[in-house]
Amino acid sequence: MQIFKQKKYLQKHLRTITKGKSIGFVATMGSLHSGHLSLINSSKSICCITVCSIFINPTQFNNFNDYKNYPKDYNNDISLLKNIACDILYIPQVIDIYEEKIESRKYNLGKVAENLEGKYRPGHFDGVATVVEKLFDIVNPNIAFFGEKDLQQLQVVKKLVSITNRKLDIVGVKTTREPNGLAKSSRNKLLSKEHIKEASIIFKCLEYCKFNMHLSIKKLKLYIKNQFLLNQNVQLEYIEFVELNTFDKIKEWGGEKTNAVCIAAYINNVRLIDNIIL
Ligand code: PAF
Repeated sequence: MQIFKQKKYLQKHLRTITKGKSIGFVATMGSLHSGHLSLINSSKSICCITVCSIFINPTQFNNFNDYKNYPKDYNNDISLLKNIACDILYIPQVIDIYEEKIESRKYNLGKVAENLEGKYRPGHFDGVATVVEKLFDIVNPNIAFFGEKDLQQLQVVKKLVSITNRKLDIVGVKTTREPNGLAKSSRNKLLSKEHIKEASIIFKCLEYCKFNMHLSIKKLKLYIKNQFLLNQNVQLEYIEFVELNTFDKIKEWGGEKTNAVCIAAYINNVRLIDNIIL
């Protein structure tokens, strides 16, 4: 695996090796786990060259402490990527991405960026779109892979690609889970074994919705809110039912696989999000 810290060297290298070969791209913030590796493997299965980036993007955090405390494990990340034979790793410093101005561009991403994460993390999606667009400019991939765990982000990135008229396919990859159902996330590294056990309530509630779609959305919401009230160690921030592509909130079920239920919750001050497509 070749490692680049500066875009000018990465781009020079890509120009020499890609000629006619497809590039698959996986953007990450590091602290890699099996969920990231499944993105890399998806890319490797259909693209000639797979590029992974590790960059903790300051503009997508709403809170400086969250940014500073974001888990980092660069040596382990590099050995995981080498083990699965990722071709190229781009691991820049902030200056290589943002140059002199560390700020988000303002996008017109529309409604898909307004509800749920858009509401609870103002500016977050402008930060994500800014860095993703910069990374796309640098790597110029044919296909980019994003996890369904961050389902709203996946839809926002699709919207970004469409409003910027970029010739690029975005592929969503299924969520990888712990044995108890908890979605794999770099933030899980901030949780103890006990917290991980308790956090399984999130997946249990999502599955409850999946298996009880004969009930109304209103009833399901009430049931889930009560489950969280009974479990004082995990604080529910939101439970929402949305239309999959637009992230419009729904009150009635749409057709099969056109809805999603999304949860955000805190455990030990660590914010976790998860969803299931219904
Ligand atoms: O999902 C993430 O890890 C980040 O939001 C991303 C897409 C790498 C942008 O910083």
